[in-house]
Amino acid sequence: QHGPAFDVNAMTLTRWVLAQQRTAPTATGDLTQLLNSIQTAVKAIQSAVRKAGIAKLHGISGDTNVQGEEVKKLDVLSNDLFINMLQSSFTTCLLVSEENPQVIQVETERRGKYIVCFDPLDGSSNIDCLVSVGSIFSIYKKQSAGEPSEADALRPGRELVAAGYALYGSATMMVLSLGFGKGVHGFMYDPSIGEFILTDPNMRIPDKGKIYSINEGYAAEWEEGLKRYVEEKKQPSVGKAYGARYVGSMVADVHRTIKYGGIFMYPATKAAPNGKLRLLYECNPMSFIVTEAGGLASTGKQPVLDLVPTSIHQRAPCFLGSKKDVEELLKYLN
Ligand code: AHM
Ligand code: MG
Repeated sequence: QHGPAFDVNAMTLTRWVLAQQRTAPTATGDLTQLLNSIQTAVKAIQSAVRKAGIAKLHGISGDTNVQGEEVKKLDVLSNDLFINMLQSSFTTCLLVSEENPQVIQVETERRGKYIVCFDPLDGSSNIDCLVSVGSIFSIYKKQSAGEPSEADALRPGRELVAAGYALYGSATMMVLSLGFGKGVHGFMYDPSIGEFILTDPNMRIPDKGKIYSINEGYAAEWEEGLKRYVEEKKQPSVGKAYGARYVGSMVADVHRTIKYGGIFMYPATKAAPNGKLRLLYECNPMSFIVTEAGGLASTGKQPVLDLVPTSIHQRAPCFLGSKKDVEELLKYLN
């Protein structure tokens, strides 16, 4: 035999989700269908992010495509993909997107029981220089009876039924958790067959890391405890200094933190008393995944997942990562 064997029995994401559904006796298959629609959006977004089909998008003129239409910006295209795929899955009733000021109510005929909050393309400042970007999503089940409304999305992260992200990095990966106790699982995209393959089952974040990740440019605006913590990481009283890594794309920074350990921080500053990151589709889904992988996620005052949202685009300070690193930070903050 020449070369490695072709895997004729690969565990694809679709197959894995289906298998999970089969273990729940009452499952209707709706969540499976919903996750498939997200998977389709992610496949299309990764193709666009990687500029596959660039000629089709740009023609020869640059800003307009061959039909003479203006080229859609990647974040707009990603948002349209998420919205269209989710609405046509017949499993959602309410959508919250970073790109839309108001909630999106799914039309009656296409409604299902799930609410999805998402950031279709996070890290937009990194798009033009080709640094990694990502998509983030969280899924709730509608609890109230009657018309879906904004209030249905204002639920704490603890109530999520699933969350995940896609990282468009040197490879594309989807990381998913279907609830507390069900683990965090990573699926790498194989472009040769157009499928996500389970490569990182049961991801666990190291108990302690050697990396801190924060935008240090705003250090003058931090609270004193945070200043002292970061100083201690750089000039430790005992042991070795931590390394610094900051991509500026939350998905990339959090994925690295899960894989290698350490701490990711987006604190409050004087100018932004709740930080920058959005609770519903950035802090919550990432905190859900990090917590489920054995780490911690805090606002500095309480677990991120306990925060009860009061508006759909609200921000929250976010400190997440290895259990011991976050615990250490919290001692400095209080
Ligand atoms: P965006 O939604 O406008 O892309 O902003 C979110 C991003 C996160 O991915 C990242 O963690 C953060 O902004 C970086 O912000 P800063 O440049 O202030 O460090
Ligand atoms: Mg964002």
